[in-house]
Amino acid sequence: MGMGLRNGFLLILSCVVTLSLSVLGRPATFLEDFRITWSDSHIRQIDGGRAIQLVLDQNSGCGFASKRQYLFGRVSMKIKLIPGDSAGTVTAFYMNSVTDAVRDELDFEFLGNRTGQPYTVQTNIYAHGKGDREQRVNLWFDPAADFHTYSIMWNHHQIVFYIDEVPIRVYKNNEARNIPYPKLQPMGVYSTLWEADDWATRGGLEKIDWTKAPFLAYYKDFDIEGCPVPGPVNCATNSRNWWEGTAYQALNAMEAKRYRWVRMNHVIYDYCTDKSRYPVTPPECMSII
Ligand SMILES: *[C@@H]1O[C@H](CO)[C@@H](O)[C@H](O)[C@H]1NC(C)=O
Repeated sequence: MGMGLRNGFLLILSCVVTLSLSVLGRPATFLEDFRITWSDSHIRQIDGGRAIQLVLDQNSGCGFASKRQYLFGRVSMKIKLIPGDSAGTVTAFYMNSVTDAVRDELDFEFLGNRTGQPYTVQTNIYAHGKGDREQRVNLWFDPAADFHTYSIMWNHHQIVFYIDEVPIRVYKNNEARNIPYPKLQPMGVYSTLWEADDWATRGGLEKIDWTKAPFLAYYKDFDIEGCPVPGPVNCATNSRNWWEGTAYQALNAMEAKRYRWVRMNHVIYDYCTDKSRYPVTPPECMSII
C-alpha cells in the first residue's frame, strides 16, 4: 500500500517533470525532436539547427520524422514553401500512427502550382483506418513569400488545423454519434517533399519543370507539445494538460468567425459536399463546428 502510493506519487512527479521539460525552451532545434528519414543529402540544417532547408531535385526528394510519438497535444512549425513554379511538387506535414490497418492520420499537404497560381492546401483525416476525408483550401497569401505557422491541435474534444491564427479545418469528437475519433494510438510527426506530378497540380495536367530545380522549402520554429509515448503513464488522460483546457475544447468566437470566413471564401473542395463520391453525406459532416 505504502509502495503503491509512493509509486503513484513518483509517476505524477515524473509526469510533471517531463511535461515542464517538453514545454521549456520551445521552439526546439530540429535535431532535438526530429531525425531525417529520407535522403540526408537533401536536408540541410541552417541557423545552428534552428531551421532546415528541404531540397527536391531530379535525384530525390526528402523527409523527416519526430523521434517520438505523441498522444494528444499540439504540433506547429513555420514553413516557407517553394517559390515560383512549384507545379507538380507536394510538401506534406502530417501526423501518423504508423499502424496500417487501423491508421490514424492528420494531413496537411501543400500542392504546388505554376508561377502566379495559388497554392492549394489539402487536409485529410484518417480515423481507425478510414480516410477519404479530403478538403482543399486556396491560400489567401503567398506561402512562398514568407514563413507562416501551420499547426495541428489534437485533444479529446476536437482536432483543429490552423494556418497562423486561422482554423481551416475542425474535426469534432462525435463518438457519442458513433463517428470514429483518433484517440487510442499515438502518432508521430512527419514531413516530406516529393514529386507527384501525376495528381498534384490541376489533377496532374501541370507537370513538374525540372529546369527550375532544385526546389527549396524552409522550416523553422519546431514545436511539439504533447504526451510522448512511451512516456509518463497517465499523461494522455490528464485533463490538466493545457491543450485539454476549456479554451481548446471548441473554437472561440474569433476563431469561429475566421473559420466561417475560410469556409465561405477559400474552400475549393470538400468531400462533405461531393455528391458523386458520397451520395449519402458522411455523418461527421453534419456538424461542422
Ligand atoms: C492551381 O491553379 C489553378 C488555376 O488557378 C487552380 O484551379 C488550382 O486549384 C490550383 N491548385 C492546384 C493544386 O492545382
